[in-house]
Amino acid sequence: MTKQDTPFQPENDKIASEARTAYTPALFDLRPPNSAIIHGDAREVLSAIEEERFRCCVTSPPYWGLRDYDVEDQIGAEYELEDYIQSLVVVFRGVRRVLRDDGTLWLNIGDSYTSGNRKWRATDHKNPARKMQYRPPTPPGLKPKDLIGVPWRVALALQEDGWYLRSDIIWYKPNCQPESVKDRPTTAHEYIFLFSKSERYFYDHEAIKEPGVAPNTWRNRRTVWSVPTEPFSGAHFATFPPALVEPCILAGSERDDEVLDPFFGSGTVGLVCTQHQRSFTGIEIKSDYIKLAKKRIVGIQI
Ligand SMILES: C[S@@+](CC[C@H](N)C(=O)[O-])C[C@H]1O[C@@H](n2cnc3c(N)ncnc32)[C@H](O)[C@@H]1O
Repeated sequence: MTKQDTPFQPENDKIASEARTAYTPALFDLRPPNSAIIHGDAREVLSAIEEERFRCCVTSPPYWGLRDYDVEDQIGAEYELEDYIQSLVVVFRGVRRVLRDDGTLWLNIGDSYTSGNRKWRATDHKNPARKMQYRPPTPPGLKPKDLIGVPWRVALALQEDGWYLRSDIIWYKPNCQPESVKDRPTTAHEYIFLFSKSERYFYDHEAIKEPGVAPNTWRNRRTVWSVPTEPFSGAHFATFPPALVEPCILAGSERDDEVLDPFFGSGTVGLVCTQHQRSFTGIEIKSDYIKLAKKRIVGIQI
């Protein structure tokens, strides 16, 4: 991305709200007003956005030690688990500041196993971004082969930092990747944690009701969501499916609200916002993904 394409310069003093408005490109003139994709480190960009702007945040941070996005200041490549958790606490503290008091955070995150002290991850030819330059060490207190419990460690750290932890939703993947393991079940789920900024918050339970057991009845949405993963042919390797994002946006915001994703990737949140008349702000550190997201979002609109 050229400098001209990137009006948001975190090192520039003038990172005020005009910077955002300046980066509402013609591309997004067709979209709900105020939508933007901002290039930079979420921690810095968030600190330049005014307080209480967004109704909800829906996001999926990089998982710890799984993918190398090959960019400075990326999150997920911390050598120590504690540093990774702390990076996320800082990002989401920034998110809490820019959320309205009645706002919610929907956080999708998956788990991983300790490396058994192997230092290098072999190249995954189907998914080159999975090759890390290192394997993080087994965190203190854990053993080789332990499930790390990353989602819950992050969730409890965020709760400790002031968020209200309201729900742990299981994203069940009926078409999950097969695993060659023979000493445990194949992992077929990730988590979506629902957090709120305050004790009372906006949550449109009607918008996401699910079919009841009796014919033609509806009931309150349950905490297990079965959503198939979807292959995405672009160059991004960790997209979440629009069908997973949709209920979060429908329950967490109203038409014309502004929605935030500080780890925008290929722009799934922007895509779903556009389909449901919400404005979006996406923050992404890797310029290649910004190009990809713009193309993907514009693709459905024009
Ligand atoms: C799991 S992916 C998000 C995928 C996205 N939900 C989608 O559907 O395409 C995480 C993204 O966070 C980005 N990222 C990593 N560190 C970041 C940082 N410090 N600030 C902003 N984005 C970052 C990565 O480049 C990657 O695109």
